[in-house]
Amino acid sequence: MNFELKPIGLVGASTEKSDALIVLVPQDFKAGKDDLSVLVAQAIKSSDLETKPGKLLALYKPVQANAARVVLVGIGSGSPRDVRTAVLAAVGVVKSPSLKKLLVCFAAPALEEAVRAVVLAVADATYVYTHTKSKPEGRTLGKLLVGASNATEVQASFDHAVGIVAGAELAKEWANRPANHATPTLLGQAAQELAKLPKITCEVLGPKEVAKLGMGSFMAVAQGSDQPLRFIVLHYNGAAKTQAPTVLIGKGITFDCGGISIKPAPEMDEMKFDMSGAASVLGTFKSLAVLKPNINVVGLIAACENLINGQAVKPGDVVTSMSGQTIEILNTDAEGRLVLCDALTYAERFKPTAVVDIATLTGACVIALGGVRSGLFASQDDLAKALYAAGEAAQDLCWRMPLDEDYAEGLKTSFADVANVAGRAGGSITAAKFLQRFAEKFPWAHLDIAGTAWKSGAAKGATGRPVGLLVEYLMSQARNT
Ligand code: BES
Ligand code: MN
Ligand code: ZN
Repeated sequence: MNFELKPIGLVGASTEKSDALIVLVPQDFKAGKDDLSVLVAQAIKSSDLETKPGKLLALYKPVQANAARVVLVGIGSGSPRDVRTAVLAAVGVVKSPSLKKLLVCFAAPALEEAVRAVVLAVADATYVYTHTKSKPEGRTLGKLLVGASNATEVQASFDHAVGIVAGAELAKEWANRPANHATPTLLGQAAQELAKLPKITCEVLGPKEVAKLGMGSFMAVAQGSDQPLRFIVLHYNGAAKTQAPTVLIGKGITFDCGGISIKPAPEMDEMKFDMSGAASVLGTFKSLAVLKPNINVVGLIAACENLINGQAVKPGDVVTSMSGQTIEILNTDAEGRLVLCDALTYAERFKPTAVVDIATLTGACVIALGGVRSGLFASQDDLAKALYAAGEAAQDLCWRMPLDEDYAEGLKTSFADVANVAGRAGGSITAAKFLQRFAEKFPWAHLDIAGTAWKSGAAKGATGRPVGLLVEYLMSQARNT
């Protein structure tokens, strides 16, 4: 899809030819003298249009516009959330196979975050998964034109949003692909594709190299599957080599059946999304290639399946991680932390300014925060604040969770340095406490995206989260350097 921002208000919007025009009307709308403004004002006056977010009035070929379908929609206060609600509702009305060019126009000067919300919401509402359809009917929308009278003021945040969309859609795409179409090997190839983009390089390690590194914990998970593991190392070089990087680590379990501690059958298919953390790292690198901030970023992905064959790891097995710490695997379904801990140790070599791991780690996090906010854990307040703020700015929300040492009590065992599970209570926190043992050498944060990376039910599919949060955070790092 092609995106363009044009310096037009309602006057310009009325003559611009498009298949559909969406007019965003704020609660404090003040009409100009042009025909389209007058139409909007009349609709409000006669109570045919309300300016509450998402309330809309659909018109067909009104003389005041150069589009077959026109939707006037309220955006309330104009907050990102209100704009998103409005755009999703309006696109729902005008969406059709003949919708090739869409014009979304602000009826009043646009705020930066509102412009961003338009771009992200239109992209979200029109994304179509096709990879495994025999007769693919993809996205028909080819062009989104956003009209704002103050376009120059909001150009930067518009470009920014377009960069986020590129990454979020790559993340969605990989997360949506079924496990037999998104194996560790294929994820490695996707990363190598990214290395064709500017400033990105990539290295993919296989079982031999990983064994040599001593990643005994990662290998223990992978050994239950015939698919060979991959450890992916991506570099985005936007600054001098001497500048310490931020490291992103993605959980890349391409399918999680639980291993010997097998999961129940209902909804097990959803465990193809268990590489959403990895997908968000791939997506973020795509965004970096578009936005080109002056920072360095390393992306690490530990990719394998969590399956059951004759070699599969058994409850009670003790393995030695790359850090040297031994781990008693009491539950083979707590595999995410087992692959992440070795990636965390690997990250030490980059002497990073910060390490952020992203993982669909625990069902407990879904219970705690649902699908609205990702769980945020951080060893330092500054890092937590920056990630939280990035989530708010990108409307890709998270919420900080505690890391009190008392939560680590349940991980104690007589048979190894640490167990991979504690009790059911505080499950997302005890998982984070496990990871923290491997993240002592740098500022560290962990995003548990089990509830936010995809939606279940009728509209089952990946959300592309938290690419928005991550890109926003990295762009804010670039602004600070
Ligand atoms: N991938 C799952 C977490 C998950 C569960 C994500 C449901 C999304 C929805 C993870 O590997 C897992 O199985 N975690 C276990 C941990 C438990 C055994 C301590 C869980 O949450 O049940
Ligand atoms: Mn699991
Ligand atoms: Zn898992």
